[in-house]
Amino acid sequence: MPPSIRFDILTLFPEMLAGPLEGGVLGRARRAGLVEIESHNLRDWAMDRHNTVDDYTFGGGSGMVMKPEPIAAAVEALRNEKSWVVLLTPQGKVLDHAVALELSRKTHLILICGRYEGVDERVRIQLVDEQISIGDYVLTGGELPALVLTETVARLAPGVVGNDEATRKESHSEGLLEHPHFTRPREFRGEAVPDVLLSGDHGAIRRWRHRESLRRTLLVRPDLLQRRGLEPDESEWLWKEEPAAMSGFHGVPPSVEPDPPLEKKLES
Ligand SMILES: C[S@@+](CC[C@H](N)C(=O)[O-])C[C@H]1O[C@@H](n2cnc3c(N)ncnc32)[C@H](O)[C@@H]1O
Repeated sequence: MPPSIRFDILTLFPEMLAGPLEGGVLGRARRAGLVEIESHNLRDWAMDRHNTVDDYTFGGGSGMVMKPEPIAAAVEALRNEKSWVVLLTPQGKVLDHAVALELSRKTHLILICGRYEGVDERVRIQLVDEQISIGDYVLTGGELPALVLTETVARLAPGVVGNDEATRKESHSEGLLEHPHFTRPREFRGEAVPDVLLSGDHGAIRRWRHRESLRRTLLVRPDLLQRRGLEPDESEWLWKEEPAAMSGFHGVPPSVEPDPPLEKKLES
């Protein structure tokens, strides 16, 4: 099976990427030929004998800016007609499961890691298809964001995570957080594994997991539940189990009687 996706990461610090790309699931997937991931030193495309890749910012200010020529030369050397060029920037669309899924449908991603004050604006205008942020905070460089993006997209490629079913059922893949997991021992410091998980009753286990997934999402990330919505039976169960959280979430339990008509109120 040929690799389903290739990543080319453009950076001034390729050594920062080496360890994470060699180890764990990513390293194994690369060695198995399921994905291709290469990092490239942008200095290799510098235009002068000092390998200059940054310069002062026009208009004044203390920070340096990454020059456009080495980035343009690198992108133009690596891209083909199917390439998708991503700039890592705190000003981009925030990476989430849906964005990762969309990116996993591409066959070639070129990731540009910024440093200093970022990259010359003409890079964004002329070369970039999409800008991605990994969250509303600022790091010193795009290398960690590029690794985060690469790992989350690569693990969606067929075969990368041993059991493809596992990635379909994970947190965020169905708009919910995943249910809790337990392993041995059956009891740890007075806390026992829920009986249902030891029952062998697969229907009951599936139901328990789904409900705990709902409960956890309600308690920790009600915004996700708001977006996904609730089936009537799910809502009913949550009202029974977590009334306080549900009243914050929904306002009124479904069982509350609607107001009596005005004439009835006046009679009483
Ligand atoms: C110090 S930051 C530059 C921030 C820029 N001056 C601004 O205010 O938008 C340097 C580089 O780190 C990377 N970076 C920092 N935070 C990031 C984030 N949350 N997501 C993605 N990339 C980020 C980008 O590549 C950026 O060009």
